[in-house]
Amino acid sequence: MAAFPERRPRRLRTRAAVRDLVRENKLHAEDLIQPHFVFEGEGPDVPIASMPGQSRLSESRLVEECARAWAAGVRGVALFPKVADQLKSLHCAEAWNDDGLVPRIVRRLKKEVPGLLVITDVALDPYSSLGQDGIVVDGRIDNDVTIEALVKQAACHARAGADMVAPSDMMDGRVGAIRATLDAQGSYDTLILSYSAKYASYFYGPFRDALDSAPRGGTDKRTYQMDPGNGDEALHEVELDLDEGADIVMVKPGMPYLDIVWRVKEAFGRPVAVYQVSGEYAMFKAAGANGWIDEVACVHEALLGFKRAGADMILTYYATEVAERLKRG
Ligand code: PBG
Repeated sequence: MAAFPERRPRRLRTRAAVRDLVRENKLHAEDLIQPHFVFEGEGPDVPIASMPGQSRLSESRLVEECARAWAAGVRGVALFPKVADQLKSLHCAEAWNDDGLVPRIVRRLKKEVPGLLVITDVALDPYSSLGQDGIVVDGRIDNDVTIEALVKQAACHARAGADMVAPSDMMDGRVGAIRATLDAQGSYDTLILSYSAKYASYFYGPFRDALDSAPRGGTDKRTYQMDPGNGDEALHEVELDLDEGADIVMVKPGMPYLDIVWRVKEAFGRPVAVYQVSGEYAMFKAAGANGWIDEVACVHEALLGFKRAGADMILTYYATEVAERLKRG
């Protein structure tokens, strides 16, 4: 006689309600952060060809979309400015102009959508005439000269009222330098969300289209962003950033780096963010538009996967849309 199994894990899957009860991880609107692209002044949305459904927004439209995100339960917005070409330079001074686009829009958002966390990108690429995250000296990204610029930028964002500053540049020592500068000006409560394990990824392609910020000349980004083959190095980067005072550490991109999310959470047990980047978004959109995958279901599954891997929060271009769907139930 055949030996029947005594252990039947399928019992926990036989009824939808039981599946609901035993599900280990759930996705909530409150896990989500929406990135937005904003341009100076007013005007119609400028659709981004390689990110269908995403646009560069005017200042007023940004406020509108942020109010919508907040109403749906999204907790934060990450801002990426599209800066006019004539404001770009080699020394990137527009990055710490207190009357510039980012500080201006931060002040407005804190007034008009007060609960929503405003997260600003601390990096020089939108302001660099070379499209680099750092300042180029003699054909090389100069780490320490770049830090001097980044601390001014972070201090400027904090003065405007940013809840979190998010260094995405991958220079060595920038978290400590930013923390010291913020504290020195009394911005004790401004959090640092550090892009700690940021890989030199081809998945950023559509983002660079969105901001017209692809590296031009100088070097590519492999002298500062991480090599995709490395895992232990990510733990080292995270350890340094936590030591230097990062409040939240981030892994980026998302889906190809789930092992890193898991290892970081396991090793440090500190708040971890993951960024589902523009190239990931573009793939879901393209496959969905072709009818090759069920976009909504696949996106939900991917976001849940981030939670299961240990992420506390997820930056995703789908944030508002997913939050609204979760709300409708
Ligand atoms: C640059 C920055 C990038 C992204 C966020 N900040 C691109 C890069 O490093 O070249 C990518 C985000 C995405 O692809 O969605 N400071």
